[in-house]
Amino acid sequence: MLGEGLSGKIAEKIIQGRTSGEVVTARLSTSERILARVTDGIYRQPSSSLRELVANAYDADATHVHILTDAPRFQKIIVRDNGRGLSAHVLDYVIHSIGGSAKRTFSGMELGVSDAGDPKISPGGRRFIGKIGIGLFSIAQLTNHFQIITKVAGEKYRTFVDIILHTHSEDQMAEDVQRKTFDTGSVEIWSVQAEDVEAHGTEIVLINIKNSAKELLQSRERWLSVKGEQFGDELNPKKEEAPSFHIGAHIIQNGYEIIEPRRLPWADDDNPAEKFSKLVEAMANELGGRTNPLLSQIFDNYLSTIWTLSLAVPLNYSDGHPFSYSKKDTAAIFQLSNKPKGHPTEINIQGEQTIREVLKLTAGVENSPLGFDVFIDGIQLSRPIKFRDLPESRNALKKPLLMVGSHKPDLTSVPEEYRGGELRFEAYLFWTPKVVPADHAGVLIRINEASGTLFDPTFLNYQIAELTRLRQITAEIFVKEGLDSALNIDRESFNYSHPHYQYIKKWLHSALRQLASTQKRLSKEIRDQERDSQLQSHRNELQKTIEETWMKTRGDEEIPPEVVFVEKGKQRELTTISDIVYSKEEVFPERKFSRNSSASIAEEKKLEEQAKALASVLIAYGIFEEMTVKEQQDLLKAIVRIFTVESN
Ligand SMILES: Nc1ncnc2c1ncn2[C@@H]1O[C@H](COP(=O)(O)OP(=O)(O)OP(=O)(O)O)[C@@H](O)[C@H]1O
Ligand SMILES: [Mg+2]
Repeated sequence: MLGEGLSGKIAEKIIQGRTSGEVVTARLSTSERILARVTDGIYRQPSSSLRELVANAYDADATHVHILTDAPRFQKIIVRDNGRGLSAHVLDYVIHSIGGSAKRTFSGMELGVSDAGDPKISPGGRRFIGKIGIGLFSIAQLTNHFQIITKVAGEKYRTFVDIILHTHSEDQMAEDVQRKTFDTGSVEIWSVQAEDVEAHGTEIVLINIKNSAKELLQSRERWLSVKGEQFGDELNPKKEEAPSFHIGAHIIQNGYEIIEPRRLPWADDDNPAEKFSKLVEAMANELGGRTNPLLSQIFDNYLSTIWTLSLAVPLNYSDGHPFSYSKKDTAAIFQLSNKPKGHPTEINIQGEQTIREVLKLTAGVENSPLGFDVFIDGIQLSRPIKFRDLPESRNALKKPLLMVGSHKPDLTSVPEEYRGGELRFEAYLFWTPKVVPADHAGVLIRINEASGTLFDPTFLNYQIAELTRLRQITAEIFVKEGLDSALNIDRESFNYSHPHYQYIKKWLHSALRQLASTQKRLSKEIRDQERDSQLQSHRNELQKTIEETWMKTRGDEEIPPEVVFVEKGKQRELTTISDIVYSKEEVFPERKFSRNSSASIAEEKKLEEQAKALASVLIAYGIFEEMTVKEQQDLLKAIVRIFTVESN
């Protein structure tokens, strides 16, 4: 028996319609005024809509999703999956329950949407992304007219659902208040016999894409700006550059026609995964350049949409999960401390061992036992994140620094009614001299492997002024338990006051502080080492000059004396009888380096070594023989001054 809200009337009609051939009509409805508004569109980007459709396929245990577009026209988009499909009863439920997802509920268990024993997971064992019951209507961003063609394994029919969404007016809303249900669209359903009984899956056909969405996907504004003068638009003040890669354009404006041939980073006959790697490679090549480009500068909106979608849905990484990295891939790997003022500890990873093995992490393995492959126009998506084999930088730390952590905080101090359940997460923070594209600087939070928020460049509002360093950090937090209830309904922002959000924010800020101090310390160590070895080779070169001069002037009878400069009061202790001793104060100009930095100390040391060599050479030629020590010092001082004079 079906539970509350599962009237089953529409389901019965659908089943009857299979033999009678009658088309079932229904109204798409909800009992909540606010949810009726959802079908007016609450999502911002075309990629949001694609993200929701792919998330639904994931929740339906699909292993393959194909998104097909007619790029670069974008009149029609199809999203096809091989998931479990919508049964007549599920369809019935969906039509009557906008905003009341069956996922994670007992209805979901009855309907077979979730696992029979655990409403939180799909029958295939995936943790649900969906929870509200509105994601499907993100389609409103793209079109008012779509079809769902769906089939459940074992049934002889394929069901067609044709949906027209209404845009609400205030008048009509007021009328609906009286009736207590809000009409958000009209639905027609019919069935067609299927040849392959065992086939299953769902196809969502978006018909007649709205102009606003179409023009966005076509990058129309941009092309008009790039090609301004060709459209008779000489006055366009802000002329944009063409993206480096794009799907091409076919634009008609003011009676002019522009056809821009596509420019893609891959070849038509590359395989689907190869195509995507080449897209990632094209971006990685920007690392060598001087600028730090944004996604939108390198790609048109179509390629940017593909990229953004790849970040948002559960996929493998194009170059392996960062937790599968080993020692050779990074400069150093640290484990973050979970204590408020804690310090990170460097972890010792041997040979081929991975971070995941050593720290016993699970992100990236436990969620995809079935496999989940997503394609768009024949390109196989993967997470466009790659930190290995990047070109070396001129930065002191040439390789990236990886900080990894995991935590299951004790929230017992928060009263149970506000706690929002348990929280458990794993995370990494990556420091690298240049994050490309610049859009990746920030933190991306994944809940059940999905993310609608993408990279937050403020790192959840980190208040410490470290602008340069923050642009060099890219981080991901993999939430395993909790936080879900802090996610707003469009999945694109958080409720900041939620205790889980607050906790993660605090943890992240502590992690950033740990990363900053470690990065500073390592860079300093490297710079100091470099300086020491530079100083040593400088000294060796000078020593060669001294020895050659002494050989030339005195033969091999005499060896050059040791010249030393001593500070006042330290004379006696440091020197031996054969040393030539001068006073530092009398020879060197007053300290011109006010800062006591290691760089200025190194400069001073070099100058002192040069002055020693100078004295030694003058002695070799006998210049000092008739002079008092004071006169010798004065001469050295004059020469040192000549060579350290600065022009301004
Ligand atoms: N591709 C699909 N395959 C099978 N069932 C689907 C598919 N897309 C949607 N559904 C069904 O339609 C319902 C409504 O989808 P919708 O995305 O609106 O809500 P949800 O996924 O339950 O929650 P959320 O709003 O958080 O995404 C789903 O619960 C699911 O039962
Ligand atoms: Mg959904």
